[in-house]
Amino acid sequence: MERPCVRVPRSAGERVRQELADADVIDTDAKIAVSDGWLYIPVTDTDNLPVAFPVEHRSVEPRNTQTLPGDILGEAPSYERLGDIALVDEDDPDCARRVATALMQSSLPIRSVLNARSKVKGEHRIREWELLAGEETETVHREYGVELLLDVTKVYFSPRLATERRRVVEQVTPDEHVFDMFAGVGPFAIPIAKRGAEVVAVDLNEAAVAYLEKNARRNEVASRIAAIHGDVRDVGAEYAGWADRIIMNLPHSAAQFLETAGHIAGDDAIIHYYDIQPDGAPFSPGEQAIRATLGSMYDIEILERKEVRSYAPHEVNICLDVRLTAR
Ligand SMILES: C[S@@+](CC[C@H](N)C(=O)[O-])C[C@H]1O[C@@H](n2cnc3c(N)ncnc32)[C@H](O)[C@@H]1O
Repeated sequence: MERPCVRVPRSAGERVRQELADADVIDTDAKIAVSDGWLYIPVTDTDNLPVAFPVEHRSVEPRNTQTLPGDILGEAPSYERLGDIALVDEDDPDCARRVATALMQSSLPIRSVLNARSKVKGEHRIREWELLAGEETETVHREYGVELLLDVTKVYFSPRLATERRRVVEQVTPDEHVFDMFAGVGPFAIPIAKRGAEVVAVDLNEAAVAYLEKNARRNEVASRIAAIHGDVRDVGAEYAGWADRIIMNLPHSAAQFLETAGHIAGDDAIIHYYDIQPDGAPFSPGEQAIRATLGSMYDIEILERKEVRSYAPHEVNICLDVRLTAR
């Protein structure tokens, strides 16, 4: 494309560009060109230039400008990306619709927008969602080289836990047996199997297990994952002493499953115990429950007390990494 450009020696380029920007005459749809020691700065108005450099018409490349939702709304809205779906959590229906329209009109690759209509609830820990724009609720989410196919209206999933999952996954060695007690669609199980470990992954939600199986195949680790639909208290009975590492990602209720974890754990095992507690002393209830339930069978060493994220005002999501050594 051809545009009028101010021709300046490179040495004066930044000063002149700034003067042109201050006068709001830079053509932001076109790229600045460089040739033979000269800068060619595309401009929109040649009559009101604040500088005395010559103007030449020349061919310049278009600039790929992204339109973000904030450009449309005047302020950046709050949303999360799950593959090509945007998740918003907006109580005011008019505001939710405005945000959804801006997200769809932006240049972000977003196919649908969902608004949360409830908190995480029930045994399957799913939220209710309203489809505000688009048609699809299933998507492929990518996290640290793993592809997860899922439908957030049918299963639990939070993209916010990616860094925490990475922290746990990086501890795993290829020779381990890892038991994921509340596996969901596999965001721990799949990358752990990718490291070479053998994984048993259980979930009560049949839809989650169906996605977990698909995700195991998609990421080429199906031979190392046993995906099992059921209550982990029943499934765990078959795996006495099997696990080197146990993941207990069922905050609020994990304490009720410590007996099962103790049964599954081998003589030397690590548990990643998730909880949500008031921010004053968030680790104490979990530590007490672990000592009370498992203290007679195992020596208990707290390896790490990790604050994962803020969950609600004055509530935090935490993880206790705990070593169990059989007495
Ligand atoms: C908070 S989600 C975590 C899912 C997954 N670990 C993740 O990070 O996305 C808890 C999961 O535990 C499952 N669940 C709840 N009670 C269970 C039980 N008794 N046995 C097995 N799974 C259970 C739910 O269906 C849900 O998928």
